[in-house]
Formats: sequence, C-alpha cells, structure tokens
Amino acid sequence: MGFKIISSLNILLLLVTISQSGAILDPHYYDKTCPQAENIINQAVRNATKYDPKVPARILRMFFHDCFIRGCDASVLLDSTPTNKAEKDGPPNVSLAAFYVIDDAKNKLEQSCPKTVSCADIIAIAARDVVVLSGGPNWSVLKGRKDGRISRANETINLPAPSSNTSQLIQSFSQRGLSAKDFVALSGGHTLGFSHCSSFEARLRNFSSTHDSDPTLNPQFAAGLKSKCPKPNTDRNAGQFLDSTSSVFDNDYYEGLSEGKECLFRPIVVG
Ligand code: HEM
Ligand SMILES: *[C@@H]1O[C@H](CO)[C@@H](O)[C@H](O)[C@H]1NC(C)=O
Ligand SMILES: *[C@@H]1O[C@H](CO)[C@@H](O)[C@H](O)[C@H]1NC(C)=O
Ligand SMILES: *[C@@H]1O[C@H](CO)[C@@H](O)[C@H](O)[C@H]1NC(C)=O
Ligand SMILES: *[C@@H]1O[C@H](CO)[C@@H](O)[C@H](O)[C@H]1NC(C)=O
Ligand SMILES: *[C@@H]1O[C@H](CO)[C@@H](O)[C@H](O)[C@H]1NC(C)=O
Ligand SMILES: *[C@@H]1O[C@H](CO)[C@@H](O)[C@H](O)[C@H]1NC(C)=O
Repeated sequence: MGFKIISSLNILLLLVTISQSGAILDPHYYDKTCPQAENIINQAVRNATKYDPKVPARILRMFFHDCFIRGCDASVLLDSTPTNKAEKDGPPNVSLAAFYVIDDAKNKLEQSCPKTVSCADIIAIAARDVVVLSGGPNWSVLKGRKDGRISRANETINLPAPSSNTSQLIQSFSQRGLSAKDFVALSGGHTLGFSHCSSFEARLRNFSSTHDSDPTLNPQFAAGLKSKCPKPNTDRNAGQFLDSTSSVFDNDYYEGLSEGKECLFRPIVVG
C-alpha cells in the first residue's frame, strides 16, 4: 500500500517534470511569480554595458553558444569541476565572456524572487536587451526554460566553425530545426562585435594550392586583414570588427558580406 502511494506520487512528479520540460514557453511566465524579473535583468545589462561596451556582443554570442549545445539551458554558464571539463573551457571559447553579467542579474533575482527565474531565461532576456540597447528591434521574450546540469567541453565540437562552408553551416542549423533562412537571419548577429585573427587567418595565407588567400574575399580587404594579422602572430588580441559599425545593430554586416568584406564566413548564397 505504502509503495503504491509512493509510486503513484512518483508518476505524478514525473508527469509534472515532463510537462514542465516540454512546456510551451510563455511571455507571461513570471507575471505572477516575479513580475519585476525583466526590469532586474535589464538593469544589470545596462549597468554592465555602461562600464564595458563589449558586453552586448558578448551576451549575444553567449546566447548562440548556449542554445546550440544541449538547447537553451544555460549549460554554457556551468563551471568545470575536477572530473568534468565544461563547455566554457571547450575549444571555441575565445570571446566567450561577460558571464558575470548573468551572475549579477541572477543574484539580484534571488533576493527578489528566490528560486524562480531560470538562468536560461536570463540569458534569453539579456540577449534581447543587448540587441535593443544597440539600436536593434525589440521583441517579447518567451519564458519558462529550465536549466540543465550537464555541460561538456567536448560537445562544443558541434558548434559551427568559421572554416565551415555554406552547406556545412546550413546543415549545422538544420540539425537544430533551423532553416537556411534562419541561418542567414541569425548570422546577422555578427553586426555586433569582433573577431580574433585566429578565427579567420586560415583564409588569408596558403588558403589553397591555387590561391594564397580565399578568392571570395575582396582582395583589398584581404590585404588589410593580412597586415592586421601578421605572421608570426605577436598580438593575441589582434583582429577585426565584424562590421563597420560594430556596436550598432544594423544591416552593415550584410552589406560587407555582399562585397566580400567580412572575415568569418564564405559568402552566403541566398537561393
Ligand atoms: C553561423 C554560424 C556561426 C559561426 C561559424 C560563428 C563564428 C563566430 C566566430 C569565429 C566569432 C569570432 C570569435 C573571435 O574570434 O573572437 C564570432 C563572433 C560573434 N558571433 Fe558568431 N558565429 C555563428 C553564428 C552566430 C549567431 C547565430 C550569433 C547570434 C545571433 C552570433 C553572434 C556573434 C557575436 C555577437 C560575435 C562577436 C563576439 C564579441 O565581439 O565578443 N554568431 N562568431
Ligand atoms: C555596475 O557594474 C559595475 C562594473 O561591472 C559594478 O562594479 C557595479 O557593482 C555595478 N553596479 C550595480 C548597481 O549593479
Ligand atoms: C577557455 O578554455 C581554456 C581552457 O580550455 C580556459 O583556460 C579559459 O579560461 C577559457 N576561457 C573562458 C572565457 O572561459
Ligand atoms: C520591449 O518589449 C517588451 C515586451 O513587449 C517590453 O516589456 C519592453 O518594455 C520593451 N522595451 C523597450 C525598450 O521598448
Ligand atoms: C563527450 O564525452 C562523453 C564522455 O565524457 C561522451 O559520452 C560523449 O559521447 C562525448 N561527446 C562528443 C560529442 O564527443
Ligand atoms: C563543404 O565542405 C565539405 C567538407 O569539407 C565538403 O565535403 C563539401 O563538398 C563542401 N561543399 C561545398 C559546396 O563546397
Ligand atoms: C605555406 O605552405 C607551405 C607548404 O606547406 C609552407 O612551406 C609555407 O611556409 C606556408 N606559408 C605560410 C605563409 O604559412
């Protein structure tokens, strides 16, 4: 009898867990439990951006990395332990930064509404806020994501790479249910931020047996990048802004792309 009660309780709990993890996200998710959540997050993001103008680009990229590995579950925030190397210590972690902004928002939320707002939702809201702060569009963020507990450095191999060609990038997106159109639109996130030489220098020298630099790059632009990224690389911080207005969320990235003046991707062929 006792066992039966426990097992039906378990089943009930299991159902609740399943319906929560498979829950439909909701723009009003915290309306009753933490109505001030978005204000608290917005203040943390604004304050951090005031002290460090790199914060918007950092947070937008953080959201992408979080979502592409194990879904948008804040696994990108988890620290390595003696027995587990976490995502944030995986290979493409150059420029993954500003985790403190999310921690700061989370600490303030714990004071106002303990154990309510997930870190995954904080990242999603903060990413919207940095786009708005940079002059981009606003949208209502759907909420109700659950935080994951697993984060493995070796899984970052599944992030698309700057060396990938267009078909590989489209495939990487399609594995996450995203279309080629989504890929083109989301790549526009590169309207913010900076790229280190290490991310694109393979396109500048010894590119192929027939071309020293990638022939799809504008030759003058490629020459400029070469001088910014001398060999041997003496400055680990050297690189290039991703578009000509790297702190403004605008169309410049696509304009540069169509002129071969971008350093991350092979040209996107929009069919
Ligand atoms: C399509 C596949 C993608 C690839 C291969 C890719 C690759 C990269 C690389 C190599 C960098 C430069 C890192 C460095 O050298 O410091 C970068 C920066 C960045 N990426 Fe992506 N990315 C992709 C998609 C996205 C998406 C979907 C977003 C967001 C919507 C995004 C947002 C950013 C931002 C904001 C930066 C600048 C970071 C900073 O300045 O701190 N990326 N990306
Ligand atoms: C604002 O950000 C700065 C720099 O990160 C930090 O030292 C300070 O404590 C923050 N202030 C508030 C009110 O959050
Ligand atoms: C990136 O990973 C290396 C080790 O793989 C680690 O030492 C470094 O702290 C990581 N950087 C960030 C920003 O987490
Ligand atoms: C952005 O949209 C959200 C949700 O509709 C709203 O709460 C917020 O005030 C808007 N932000 C700005 C800066 O207009
Ligand atoms: C990462 O390592 C774990 C074991 O630690 C393994 O189960 C998993 O298959 C690996 N994933 C990838 C993508 O290599
Ligand atoms: C993209 O790269 C993959 C792997 O290197 C290769 O098999 C494929 O042919 C390439 N596709 C195009 C269109 O270049
Ligand atoms: C290009 O490749 C050749 C042969 O692999 C090598 O000898 C040469 O040093 C490379 N040049 C540069 C600039 O890396």
